[in-house]
Amino acid sequence: MSEQRVLITRRTPPPGVELLRAAGCTVDQLDQVEPPTREEFLRRLGGVAGAITMLSDRVDAEALDAAGPQLKVVANFAVGYDNVDLAACRERGVRVTNTPGVLTDATADLAWTLILAAARHVVAGDRLVRDGQWRGWAPTQLLGLQLAGSTLGLLGAGRIGSAVARRAVGFGMRILYVDQQSSADLERATGAKRVELEELLAESDVLSLHIPMAPEHRHLIGAAQLAAMKPTAILINTARGPIVDEAALVQALRAGRIAAAGFDVYEKEPQLSPGLTELPSVVLLPHLGSATTATRQRMSQMTAENVLAVLAGREPPNPVA
Ligand code: GLV
Ligand code: GLV
Repeated sequence: MSEQRVLITRRTPPPGVELLRAAGCTVDQLDQVEPPTREEFLRRLGGVAGAITMLSDRVDAEALDAAGPQLKVVANFAVGYDNVDLAACRERGVRVTNTPGVLTDATADLAWTLILAAARHVVAGDRLVRDGQWRGWAPTQLLGLQLAGSTLGLLGAGRIGSAVARRAVGFGMRILYVDQQSSADLERATGAKRVELEELLAESDVLSLHIPMAPEHRHLIGAAQLAAMKPTAILINTARGPIVDEAALVQALRAGRIAAAGFDVYEKEPQLSPGLTELPSVVLLPHLGSATTATRQRMSQMTAENVLAVLAGREPPNPVA
């Protein structure tokens, strides 16, 4: 497969590039932290056989046409692949792969980081101390949600949702979940109970989202769903921004219809809805779900392995199309 060109659209940990070079590929890497412009992305795609793409790269018919007919594989550096038009790829015989499994623990840990931070006012407390406004211990200062005995609701109980549930056992939480299928393993391991969305919204003290972005999931959590939650509830989103109607979330937090939120993903990343940053009750992270050194190295390696498999005419280890 020598002389085959592979594009990597961002600076990534080294294992992937090394694997590709060792296999004789010519690697064109955009060695930068920020995403390329659309124009540059389209231009650099021209003539490549494989593309390792990020969740911020829109891989649609236009991009595939810019690449040309020698493109064989798009290896998305993410478990989610809502940035890739699978139908357009199938039409052109382009395989698509993702990076499942290796980021499950990292993302579940980050969901828990947000749960704890939102439940215990970590950001507001840090600011108080840092700003020199702290006057000492007080019996009623920044009182948060007691997790033990509270209910964790999971919208989605796939790999990541299940990993979040396993961690909740250690915190002594009751677990409810919504999923298309019930999971006997999950229920046995955590005591989780499968319910309808209505019950999940009404019962959860912490509601955490773990479903992929699909057209039917857009604004699944909107004004009506937020109004159906407890006024003391916390909403956590480490999945995809458009699942939540962000403007409705700002309204709900302002009006006290829910108590707090912890977000890692946004509707129009990296832009945030007006008002979100002014709310003291939200914790806002810059899409760090899979951002551990070990996980990003494995994602790098995995994307390269998927590219190499397709270029060698083999079935890729992690196909989604
Ligand atoms: C990150 O959001 C991913 O889908 O891997
Ligand atoms: C993603 O890895 C999921 O299935 O939750």
